[in-house]
Amino acid sequence: MLNGRATKRRVHPLKRLLDVLREDCALTGTKEGCGEGECGACTVLVDGRPVNSCLVPIAQVAGARVTTIEGLGGRHPLQHAFVEHGGAQCGICTPGMILAAIALGKNPTLDQMKTGLAGNLCRCTGYSAIFRSIEATATGKNKGRDRKDRKERRG
Ligand code: FES
Ligand code: FES
Repeated sequence: MLNGRATKRRVHPLKRLLDVLREDCALTGTKEGCGEGECGACTVLVDGRPVNSCLVPIAQVAGARVTTIEGLGGRHPLQHAFVEHGGAQCGICTPGMILAAIALGKNPTLDQMKTGLAGNLCRCTGYSAIFRSIEATATGKNKGRDRKDRKERRG
């Protein structure tokens, strides 16, 4: 399952999940940074757990639930919070960072954020804006934005 849909692609079983997503599924929200498992830019969720998709052969996720940033539909509260609180700047780390943040659960402590996001590198924010964004989501501080978006979607 890819972003909630049964998905089949004819690709080499050792092709990297990252490349299948970007090249065969046109899901370019997943970014490549180091390509070596060091930066976390390519993070996606596999059965709810963050993984570096640059290290995973596609055969390894057969039958698993894969979630990419596109699977959030632009509507996840963390996406709003990252925009509102400066957690997203150049944006290269942002898709992976948000997916890794989802895996932290609803109300992570600062220590849990630091530990859980240790594999996701950001060169822009100094991390405090990212932690603030996650905290704002947990405490509902970006609810005003969510209400506005719901209203806009209703038209
Ligand atoms: S591109 Fe996968 S960890 Fe850096
Ligand atoms: S926002 Fe630029 S690397 Fe994180």
